[in-house]
Amino acid sequence: MIDPSLKRLLQGLRPDAGLVVLTGAGISRESGLHTFRDADGIWAQVRLEEVATPQAFARDPTRVQGFYNARRRAVLDPAVQPNAAHDALVRLEREWRGPFLLVTQNVDDLHDRAGSQKLLHMHGELLKICCAACTRIDRFDGDLATDAICPDCGARGTLRPHIVWFGEMPLFMEEIGEALSGAGLFLSIGTSGTVYPAAGFTAEARSNGAITLEINMEETGGRFDGGLYGPATQTVPSLVEFLLKEVQ
Ligand code: OAD
Repeated sequence: MIDPSLKRLLQGLRPDAGLVVLTGAGISRESGLHTFRDADGIWAQVRLEEVATPQAFARDPTRVQGFYNARRRAVLDPAVQPNAAHDALVRLEREWRGPFLLVTQNVDDLHDRAGSQKLLHMHGELLKICCAACTRIDRFDGDLATDAICPDCGARGTLRPHIVWFGEMPLFMEEIGEALSGAGLFLSIGTSGTVYPAAGFTAEARSNGAITLEINMEETGGRFDGGLYGPATQTVPSLVEFLLKEVQ
């Protein structure tokens, strides 16, 4: 599965190089969760302006809470479990000799359940809620009502999904920037690369001298040094096996 051109590209990689992995919805597709921009994706069913902006929440909190309550239930469906790609990234984190960071745009908890530790959820987490008034963040796995009361500050109707909406600043940007500045290899897995700032990580890593690889069902048109195409449950374990056996 790792073709000769990819092997050649990775030959120059130091065994203790910094490794930054960015994941998107495609890595969770084979676990049974929808992506956003594929033909059957979430944004083909609902307009993001109606559910994923602070303005939408101010305008129609019932609709926005309903959307995220349904997505929370989908993630908690017992049939939805981490897959071989999530598992392979746990192995990579444990066995890679250099610095490692997994940055996910995903708000599901499949990387967490698989066992990833060096993990940053840059777009927030579905199984957490936060209070817009006092900024308290709690784990939450039920349905959130629009008139719920914050257990910390007592405000009513201020609790919202701990999700970064369009127009809001993604989380952990400083930590991510630091990891990208020291990366020798950057992997972009299962993301269409359409949402900034994550879409800019490839160029940032590359300008710092990293080898950049895309792992996806198909080429997204991003500027990568190389790519591996097919279902993540096959490509990611193969690439991890190669990195741990041939580079280290
Ligand atoms: P997208 O839906 O934009 O892209 C998913 C990518 O996964 C596509 O490029 C698919 O080709 C690929 N893909 C699908 N199935 C796959 C599989 N089995 N194996 C490998 N790749 C596969 O999702 P994201 O790029 O994650 O933000 O979207 C980025 C952000 O846009 C999300 O975090 C979300 C969304 O709006 C917020 O909600 C803030």
